Amino acid sequence: MSNLYTQAYDQSINDPEGFWGNTAQDCHWYKKWDKVLDDSNTPFYRWFTGAQTNTCYNAVDLHVENGFGDRDAIIYDSPVTSTIRKYTFSQLKEQVSTFAGVLVSKGVLKGDRVIIYMPMIPEAVFAMLACARIGAIHSVVFGGFAANELATRINDAKPKVIVSASCGIEVTKIIEYKPLLDEAISLSDAKPDACIIFQRPQARAQLIQGRDYDWDLEMSDAVPQDCVPVMATDPLYILYTSGTTGQPKGVVRDNGGHMVALKWTMEAIYGVKAGQVYWAASDIGWVVGHSYIVYGPLLKGCTTVLFEGKPVGTPDASVFWRIISQHRVKTLFTAPTAFRAIKREDPKATLMKNFDLSGFEYLFLAGERLDPDTLSWAQNSLNVPVIDHWWQTETGWAIAANCMGLHHFKVKPGSPTKPAPGWDMAVLGDDGKPVKPGDIGALVARLPLPPGTLPTLWQNDQRYQDSYLKTFPGYYETADAGYIDEDGYVFVMARTDDIINVAGHRLSTGAMEEVIASHPDVAECAVMGVEDTLKGQIPLGMMVLNAGVDRDENEITKEVIELVRKKIGPVAAFKTATVVKRLPKTRSGKILRGTMRAIADKKTYKVPATIDDYTTLDEIEESLGKIGYGKKA
Ligand code: COA
Ligand code: AMP
Repeated sequence: MSNLYTQAYDQSINDPEGFWGNTAQDCHWYKKWDKVLDDSNTPFYRWFTGAQTNTCYNAVDLHVENGFGDRDAIIYDSPVTSTIRKYTFSQLKEQVSTFAGVLVSKGVLKGDRVIIYMPMIPEAVFAMLACARIGAIHSVVFGGFAANELATRINDAKPKVIVSASCGIEVTKIIEYKPLLDEAISLSDAKPDACIIFQRPQARAQLIQGRDYDWDLEMSDAVPQDCVPVMATDPLYILYTSGTTGQPKGVVRDNGGHMVALKWTMEAIYGVKAGQVYWAASDIGWVVGHSYIVYGPLLKGCTTVLFEGKPVGTPDASVFWRIISQHRVKTLFTAPTAFRAIKREDPKATLMKNFDLSGFEYLFLAGERLDPDTLSWAQNSLNVPVIDHWWQTETGWAIAANCMGLHHFKVKPGSPTKPAPGWDMAVLGDDGKPVKPGDIGALVARLPLPPGTLPTLWQNDQRYQDSYLKTFPGYYETADAGYIDEDGYVFVMARTDDIINVAGHRLSTGAMEEVIASHPDVAECAVMGVEDTLKGQIPLGMMVLNAGVDRDENEITKEVIELVRKKIGPVAAFKTATVVKRLPKTRSGKILRGTMRAIADKKTYKVPATIDDYTTLDEIEESLGKIGYGKKA
């Protein structure tokens, strides 16, 4: 039966140029495109070639010029500093254009990279938009990453300037950012010309003369900058995400396609209109933060909530309800893990009853599989539609969702509903052929991908092709396995690579293995994601020691855990590891991580026919039991 969703979906697939060309009329362009979809260099597709625009202009200035300068653009709500501060679109424009002046005074030009390593404070958003304003390319690095990870990103992006803050606040812990930044710069080969540091009263940073500059001082005499026209196909940002090795992938986002797609998703998917309050409880260091704390809501003219806190402990499990009611939030977007944390502290949702949630209409969840318990708890306690939707850093917006602005489909637990308009999805078997509805295979999207998705990896077209386009020619490989049922509902079951999702954060077990293997006593190791009731998954490490090592195994384990924290960061949540005599392998030498994971999670598993020596599995079961995993726990 035809509805707004089927109409939009069918047009987006049968006539993508018509669909997106029409959608793009909603944005401001200095110069219109020569082509909506440029397929002259397949498999690299580009959207809106020849067009000129500015993302910051569309997200900020346009609303001021349209008479909405007094509308709130940002509500900064920080229970960790007991602060609530609002910025109207006019005030946002002033801050952003002034900070753009600071960047220009440090020599930043169109196309230069700027790394932003900051906590959840408004200045981080100003810095992102200021880059967009002058055509510089920002790369935000999540605060929970260690110096080494920051250094890897500095080496790849080669930023002219780094913007940071003196500290972040994790519930009650003050995390000093400046020592991490200094260490990262000393570890990297690409040295920035300047660092601009926002000093927070909770911890002031020591500035290095001649390299570091104080945010406030610089702002006081900066010359505000106007928006600079950029090509629609110019990069807006690079966001590094975990790949299968320690070298993260630099996902590139362009200006034009990104702006068109994100603005459209706000109403079509999230059901919000300009002037309404939208809250993505995530972090600007992740793609959710880029798309739905900063760009999506501001492009739409919504008020966005910037939350510096946690779902529990700041001060308690009622903080989400307080914010929804106090700021009249219409749509909340977060990860299921946040709801599991709340449910654990307040299982009967009694705290919710103290707040007026009458303005709240939709809860959207993504980042990891939405388990049925969390879904039903949220549905029953909130009594609003709870929408699971599936996407990735690479895609920038939802691949599959129940699009609230188009049509409300009946929810099937475990499914993010149907492919969003623009997404021509298929499930392929190992032979590259489509499987039957309901059968599991590789979830892939037929090329071209819709606007707003990654055009390539930063200065690495080859890795882009090898990572996403090689296995199934003509398709983008999501690296998620799943199925599509007879009704067209998508089910996402598991990653097909060694990426795990810890509290909605994407991490590479391969990267952790590289760190563990660098410990002098470790001969080989395996890291796998095991089930966790709060975080969904947590990493668990198994290590074989070098022959002749006779040191205390507990000491070595502690050192390895500390090493991962130091090299990757606290966000890895790597706290569980054990020493084993040997690792189970196939005869060709492949470590059986999947089998070990099944043992740890008490799942049934088949002993692989190609196993080298199956007695190893009994030893693994014993070892896992000693640290509380598997049937022998
Ligand atoms: N800067 C510095 N350290 C950080 C950090 C940051 N921005 N973010 C997290 N960390 C640290 C934490 O302090 C913690 O350190 P610890 O080992 O010393 O305790 C570690 O990294 C792990 O953090 P986290 O995974 O957030 O675990 P948590 O136990 O502190 O909180 C949740 C668990 C579920 C409450 C939390 O993950 C959460 O709120 N998730 C919401 C969902 C979300 O943001 N998803 C992102 C994509 S939508
Ligand atoms: P990230 O790039 O950090 O957004 O992580 C993307 C990965 O998270 C996807 O490839 C999936 O494995 C997983 N993911 C995101 N959303 C969902 C969802 N709704 N259901 C299941 N898995 C999800």
